[in-house]
Amino acid sequence: MHTKLTINKIDNQGRGISYYNNKIVFVYNALIDEEVEVEIIKETSKYYLAKVINIIKSSQDRIQPKCPYINECGGCTLMHMPFDKQMEFKKNRLKDILFKYAGIDTEIKLIESNKDLFYRNKITLRVNKNKFSYYNKDSHDDVYINRCLLANNTINEIIGNHSFIYIYDGDITIRTNYNDDILLVINTSKYELHDDIPENIVGIIINDKVVYGESYFKDKIGDYNFKVSYNSFFQINNYIANEIFKILNNYLEGNTLLDLYCGSGVMGISMKDKVKKIIGIEKIANAIKDANDNAKLNGVKDYKYYADDTSVMLNKINDKIDIIIVDPPRSGLNDKTIKDIIKIKPNMIGYVSCDPMTLARDINILKEHYNIKKIYGLDMFPNTYHVETVMVLERKDV
Ligand SMILES: C[S@@+](CC[C@H](N)C(=O)[O-])C[C@H]1O[C@@H](n2cnc3c(N)ncnc32)[C@H](O)[C@@H]1O
Repeated sequence: MHTKLTINKIDNQGRGISYYNNKIVFVYNALIDEEVEVEIIKETSKYYLAKVINIIKSSQDRIQPKCPYINECGGCTLMHMPFDKQMEFKKNRLKDILFKYAGIDTEIKLIESNKDLFYRNKITLRVNKNKFSYYNKDSHDDVYINRCLLANNTINEIIGNHSFIYIYDGDITIRTNYNDDILLVINTSKYELHDDIPENIVGIIINDKVVYGESYFKDKIGDYNFKVSYNSFFQINNYIANEIFKILNNYLEGNTLLDLYCGSGVMGISMKDKVKKIIGIEKIANAIKDANDNAKLNGVKDYKYYADDTSVMLNKINDKIDIIIVDPPRSGLNDKTIKDIIKIKPNMIGYVSCDPMTLARDINILKEHYNIKKIYGLDMFPNTYHVETVMVLERKDV
């Protein structure tokens, strides 16, 4: 179904908002005041989703998206906006959410990425008869690609040419590092591996088994070296990860640091010159092995890592904790974890978040005991609506 719409405003995900048949319509890649012809791609009882077919009156702010898959893939929700407008959007998005859901109006400092394209060190694609695709979550279409403009070019070389392997189905994660090494992590029911494997492929892991090379590689963020196992979380944009390290180091100081949701330990280890002891909790056992190796690799003297669920392990920590860093998944902290953090009474908290909504929800509770000292928005994911946040909190009764 096609219709003409005028865009009234932009929502938190960067979609244009309009109305049709008394229902709200979210229009991908549309800007305020534009008149557009759209195709409705989804209808629910509450809203429509639509994509632009034709721009009747264009905004002055519109730029031509560089990606040929922009209308099918659904990943680059802001690529039609110039970079400065993307930054304005992200700052306003963060400001609005923090004010609306946590009553916070502290000034936000925004940190830009050094690259707006080719910044990702990891992408995951679906595979069908050795062709790689993104999956559009609205249309449920496979969008076959030859390259992704957000991915590091070493990753794109693999997408464009992978004749050394034939994967029948499933999915593939392609990871790369500072040295252009590649780790391939594949889930499939059937594959064939040939002899002509490119030299920079250091490991191929299929259905959780190493079938070629190693199960990890080394990467660098700033001055730090990290071992990253194939299934350990690692920050997607190394430049922005280093900016997070700098913020944590600027504001946090004390004897003992508790690094919650620590992955392979990177955030806590970046604080090694500011603290005497690092304790970390992370549920993926391989990531905890990496964290132990990484602490050694970076010369940390006193450390202890636990492979466990944060909400199970946290109240068993007996050390006196001065600083807590939390970097949870998008779901944020649960009630028990927040209660345990308040009980532990760290002087300072560094909350690293990839979802402002759950950050606001959690800060709304923590702010009873903590003042907000600094808020940074970081453009970890240029050309998408996502924004990373670091919030520095100080206990009120210190
Ligand atoms: C956003 S990542 C952050 C990792 C790390 N701080 C870093 O910078 O690389 C979140 C991490 O939390 C871990 N995680 C998710 N839920 C958890 C839980 N309930 N308990 C412990 N770790 C969890 C994930 O495995 C992942 O490594």
